[in-house]
Amino acid sequence: MKEIKIGFIGSGGNANGHMNRLSEMEGANIVSICDIVAEKAQNAAEKHNADPYTEYREMLERDDLDAIYLSLPVFVHGQPELDVIERGLPFFVEKPVAINIDIAREVEAAVTKADLITCVGYQLRYLGSTRIAESILKDSTINMVIGKYWCGSGRGNPDGWLRQMNKSGGQLVEQATHTIDMMRNLAGEVDSVYAMQANRTLNEIDCPDSNSVSLQFSSGAIGSLTAAWAYAGGWENTNVLDILYDGELINWSPGRVSVQEDGNWVDKNEPGPTIDDVFVNAVRSGDKSEILSPYTDAVKSLEISLAANLSAEQNKPIDISSL
Ligand SMILES: NC(=O)c1ccc[n+]([C@@H]2O[C@H](COP(=O)([O-])OP(=O)(O)OC[C@H]3O[C@@H](n4cnc5c(N)ncnc54)[C@H](O)[C@@H]3O)[C@@H](O)[C@H]2O)c1
Repeated sequence: MKEIKIGFIGSGGNANGHMNRLSEMEGANIVSICDIVAEKAQNAAEKHNADPYTEYREMLERDDLDAIYLSLPVFVHGQPELDVIERGLPFFVEKPVAINIDIAREVEAAVTKADLITCVGYQLRYLGSTRIAESILKDSTINMVIGKYWCGSGRGNPDGWLRQMNKSGGQLVEQATHTIDMMRNLAGEVDSVYAMQANRTLNEIDCPDSNSVSLQFSSGAIGSLTAAWAYAGGWENTNVLDILYDGELINWSPGRVSVQEDGNWVDKNEPGPTIDDVFVNAVRSGDKSEILSPYTDAVKSLEISLAANLSAEQNKPIDISSL
């Protein structure tokens, strides 16, 4: 099996999760890790027997790289991707792909021109529960999709980039993008959104702590998403979808899809590949067909979050095509 040599740009919490999974994978080899915080690059490099860098351009000068992972704060996206594309390397990049649509479209154009393999970290698309939900909904008429993402992310680090609107885009851009992406994945494209936002209790931050978004799907279906950082409980209310179709109801969350059988609720799941497996295999084979979250598709999920923020700011519905 051909070994795939991987470099990391960003060595924070999320990147380390990917590194751990890759280190268990046959035929994947992390050879270089860059972070502007030298200690983070050094620690991860020691753990994975890789070379540390603090300047990603220097790392990209290596001639042994087959693929790059970018796991960066949202506001940093843009130039790093353009430099990776210039270098002609396939890349995995974490969601959301950018802080604004201009950056995302510039990178998208460069990716399309270079015809590179890309994969964005919308890992929920690859789950067994998602495949089951997709097969149930195939050929159905969806009436309505209700999504929810309520949690208390960032409580331990209130001064971090996550809870600053100009650095993360707020919860709809940074986090509930997963729920939006799944709503698109299961119910199709979105034409317009109308959102309301409030900050009721997290007064120390400049992001909304509560978001309510109405969505009009191209199919004619409608949807509603609520997202909150004001909730101090656990993760059980994150990425939950209720889908009403053909007089039936399913409830999807990452760990299972609940369906009604003979009047009883039954939980269903099946194994699925990890997103890292899919990306590394695609790089090795040159075949993109198993990648369910390429860059160009991920831009559409970003558009919906950005349109929702704009809608709340302007207090009017926003057509996605107007962005
Ligand atoms: N797919 C998921 O479920 C999931 C989960 C968590 C986070 N994420 C995403 O992962 C990304 C990173 O999140 P995180 O929680 O790991 O953040 P983090 O702040 O822990 O890590 C980001 C790292 O990037 C480094 N960095 C910043 N600028 C850099 C540059 N120019 N060159 C090299 N390194 C640089 C920072 O020093 C930091 O170590 C975000 O996009 C986030 O949305 C995705």
